[in-house]
Amino acid sequence: MSLFDIHLLGAPVLRTRSREIADVDDTLRRTIDDMFETMDAAEGVGLASNQIGQTDRVAVVGVDDTRLVLINPTIAHAEGSTRAEEGCLSIPELFGEVTRAEHITLHAINADGEAYEHAAEGLLARAIQHEIDHLDGILFIDHLSILKRQMLLARWRKEYKGKELIRRFRPASTE
Ligand code: CO
Repeated sequence: MSLFDIHLLGAPVLRTRSREIADVDDTLRRTIDDMFETMDAAEGVGLASNQIGQTDRVAVVGVDDTRLVLINPTIAHAEGSTRAEEGCLSIPELFGEVTRAEHITLHAINADGEAYEHAAEGLLARAIQHEIDHLDGILFIDHLSILKRQMLLARWRKEYKGKELIRRFRPASTE
């Protein structure tokens, strides 16, 4: 097991649409294990392929006791709308209120290569929608008003000016 580096806002890979995965093999399963480990180390509730510098259609989500592997995920059904504050491991320390569907039905493939369906609401539904966005090259800031987005981006540029667009993790990091 090892931790991935997380790519930050400004890295082109975050704006790339990830490709459908044809085969679920051991290499992919190892990647998924390391994605979960990285997500936990970063104290996030989800992590998508693009964030680790890859462009395969896979993400992981972990909210409370529910841990889901999302290979080629789609939202088959969405209902209601809810607004809540959202952040992203690729845009540390910046948050904004995003409107998302309240109830969703996810269709995806798991690490065993089996298609499954999962009904979700609340934070889990939000995390799934956020991660699927990542696979399409979309970030939560894209859902904000222009004014709010410009405010966050100005803060981002100030904080991260001249810094590397990557966040490196070491096991047992206390950052
Ligand atoms: Co994110």
